[in-house]
Amino acid sequence: MTTTDPVVIMKQEVGKAAADRVQSNSIVGLGTGSTTAYAIQYIGERLQKGELTNIVGVPTSFQAEVLAKKYGIPLTTLDAVTHIDVAIDGADEVDPHKNLIKGGGAAHTREKVVDSLANQFIVVVDSGKLVDKLGSTFLLPVEVIPMAVTPVMNKLEQLGGKPELRMGIKKAGPVVTDQGNLVIDVKFESIDNPAELEKTINNMPGVLENGLFVGVADVILVGEIIDGKPSV
Ligand code: 5RP
Repeated sequence: MTTTDPVVIMKQEVGKAAADRVQSNSIVGLGTGSTTAYAIQYIGERLQKGELTNIVGVPTSFQAEVLAKKYGIPLTTLDAVTHIDVAIDGADEVDPHKNLIKGGGAAHTREKVVDSLANQFIVVVDSGKLVDKLGSTFLLPVEVIPMAVTPVMNKLEQLGGKPELRMGIKKAGPVVTDQGNLVIDVKFESIDNPAELEKTINNMPGVLENGLFVGVADVILVGEIIDGKPSV
């Protein structure tokens, strides 16, 4: 189906550009989200056309697993491979140092495991995700085991954040991650030292992982519209 929505066009183009970088005989980390979904689709199409052979994917979420199966990408797990050649994943914010906020799809814990294992981690974003400073447009997601939600929220407040439990569609109940945990989204006025904040939050008892990805990304592919034309 064709679209005229510029954000969708940017996501499609950047997803395709990332899929084009995948080489035969490789183990590919498959990220989560609407942009990576296009990369997964195009990797599947390249496999179907015979342009790519001997690809195996490591999904970062149930969503990525379902999409990979839909597009015919064989899957494996981290128990069966010793490395990942390339991982492709989206982001909610990207700063000028290639640091990221991820977790808009509540998948950041598995994403960090897979993305940080990859020899090359390619981030795919539309130009609206670029920020000067992390935390300026997006809340920081923190995955927490359910019994620790209140003490972790208190600690995040002591750190200067404004935490909110992420609710699902129609606010009928909290969002539950693939691991059966909950997500707290935190507004920080300013994230001056992402590396330190990443460690501080992960050190809180009950926190599984937060969405700061510092020093993990290798390549940032940005989808843009220039003079009315899509470009990466
Ligand atoms: C999921 C993520 C996604 O990669 C991030 O939210 C970007 O998603 P999209 O490509 O749909 O904008 O981190 O946990």
